[in-house]
Order: sequence, then structure tokens, then C-alpha cells
Amino acid sequence: MDSDASVFLIGFMGCGKSTVGKYLADQLGYHYIDTDEVIVERCHQSIPDIFNESGEGYFRDQETLALCQVPLKQHVIATGGGIIEREQNRSYLSDQVVVYLKTEWETIVSRLQGDQARPIWQDSKRDKQHLYYQREKLYQQTSQIVVTTDDKSIGAIVHEIITKF
Ligand code: S3P
Repeated sequence: MDSDASVFLIGFMGCGKSTVGKYLADQLGYHYIDTDEVIVERCHQSIPDIFNESGEGYFRDQETLALCQVPLKQHVIATGGGIIEREQNRSYLSDQVVVYLKTEWETIVSRLQGDQARPIWQDSKRDKQHLYYQREKLYQQTSQIVVTTDDKSIGAIVHEIITKF
């Protein structure tokens, strides 16, 4: 890989992108960015408020904008779980270093129990397990490196990512 290329983390909600991303950035001496945080700062609203007031389509537009504006050198970028939904985003990511944090459905369910911050997870009309399996294929297609996270410490996950570069 380009020796100081930014690293993008992808994976379903609850796979640990933020926690792993911060630790990985620290180990590499890179800066850390979370695309959700970029959106919240730009819109001056929480993610649930953006979904409620402006809808998912608006959020996805903001997400694409945030993705295309992050620095491509010396950053670790945690993306939102739905980043791979748009073809445009997948195509953009195909030129970047992308790590998929693969996590079993059962682990996701236990980690996100009681979560209030994720509108898609809370939406009772959506079949989240179906979404998980639909997205799983897209995460695989969009990444060059896959690391499973179930039952592993953050240190072990980060070590595995670094050895796979
Ligand atoms: C979403 C995941 C969230 C956030 C938004 C939508 C999704 O990010 O971008 O709530 O569609 O899966 P995390 O994956 O960090 O929870």
C-alpha cells in the first residue's frame, strides 16, 4: 500500500469502527476522523435529529460529501455502517485502503442492546438482520482487508490490521 495512505474502516453498526479507528490511528501516528462526527458538526444536529427532520436521503448526501472530503494521507477514517449503500461511495472507496471489521450478527445484537443513537437500528419497520446480510456482501466487495472482531481485544484487532497491510 501507499506508505502513508489514509485507512478507511467499514462494517455494520456496532462492529467497533470508532474504538478500533482511534487505537489504530494512535498506533500508526495518524489522525482520526469519524464521518458521522463530520456530519454532526456540519449540520449542527445529532444523527437522530438529522434523520427525523431531514430524512435518510439527506443524511446519505451529507455522508457522501463527508467521505469525499476526508484527507487521503495519514488519517484513519471510521465510516457509518451505511457508507457502502451508494454505488458512488463504493466506487470512491475502491481506490482507497479499506478494512472491513467483520462481526457476527449475534455479536452486533448484543453490543447494540439498548442503543438510542442509531435511527436505523431503532426503526421497527426495518428488518435489520436482512440489512446485515445484504450489506455483508457489499462490505466484502469494497474492502481489501477483512478482520473479524468477535471475542478479540482492540489491541489484537489493530495488530491484525497492521500485519495485513
Ligand atoms: C448508519 C450507521 C451509523 C450512522 C447512521 C446510519 C447505518 O453509523 O451513520 O446512524 O445506516 O448503518 P455507525 O455504523 O457508526 O453506527
